[in-house]
Amino acid sequence: MSSIKPLRKAVFPVAGLGTRFLPATKSMPKEMLTVVDKPLIQYAVEEALEAGIEQIIFVTGRGKGALEDHFDISYELEATMKARGKSLALIENIRQTPGSPVYVRQQEPLGLGHAVWCAREIVGDEPFAVLLPDELMVGTPGFLAQMVEAYHRVGGNLIGALEVAPEETDKYGIITPGAVDGPLTEVLEVIEKPKQGTAKSNLMTPGRYILQPEVMKILDNPVKGAGGEIQLTDAMAQLIGKQPFHGYTFAGDRYDCGDKAGFIQANLALALAREDIGPSVRAFAQTLLS
Ligand code: G1P
Repeated sequence: MSSIKPLRKAVFPVAGLGTRFLPATKSMPKEMLTVVDKPLIQYAVEEALEAGIEQIIFVTGRGKGALEDHFDISYELEATMKARGKSLALIENIRQTPGSPVYVRQQEPLGLGHAVWCAREIVGDEPFAVLLPDELMVGTPGFLAQMVEAYHRVGGNLIGALEVAPEETDKYGIITPGAVDGPLTEVLEVIEKPKQGTAKSNLMTPGRYILQPEVMKILDNPVKGAGGEIQLTDAMAQLIGKQPFHGYTFAGDRYDCGDKAGFIQANLALALAREDIGPSVRAFAQTLLS
């Protein structure tokens, strides 16, 4: 369908303070926490680039300078590595094209909806993706690439949709599902952090979105929602019924790295899957558990 506008831009809200990971995040952005040897933000950016995203937009804040340095050239490091005859492969692949990433600031922590709205001038009148780097998605192809493939068929708005345990539904945006067609689920409603016992399903939104620019117009008139914050979920819910709106269930693994246990699980799973360190980590884990 030629009326479906291509997806070129992705917004990464990275202004959060990371209080759940103190003291690790006192002077370091939580998005720089590493899973094995790569910071969380790099996994999310690579997922977006794999999906064909051309412009990376970070919504950042004070104390997040390490993120900017990470996606820039490090002259000292590169010169030293070259002089020592070492490969630059591990640091070259995340250099961006001149002018990207773009950094915009969220001055106050008013909520995810507000963070995304801070990118409105850069997003303009185009569909855009949002990726929450706390949520590490591992799959082939990646989560956003799978969503983009579906987006080219159905257009409109697509949000990740994954099942969680019923007792966890009050932590997430929860979808009221309609018709199911393979990985696609019609979204009838989406509610941010429904109170325990009130969720209409256990299908949560795990931080991957493809949204139409109209959501920015809705966020021009923000309303406080769950937790007294301006919620992206509330704004995008207003597009249901006006534009196509689907949930997409990822064929792959999800690690909630905003949670300490989830973060450790990600490290363990990805370390075990590595050819270089997997065998020794496995042997050690077995001695711990036996
Ligand atoms: C945010 C979103 C929520 C989503 C969750 C995924 O919540 O508001 O809809 O389900 O991310 O991790 P937060 O974790 O910022 O409270």
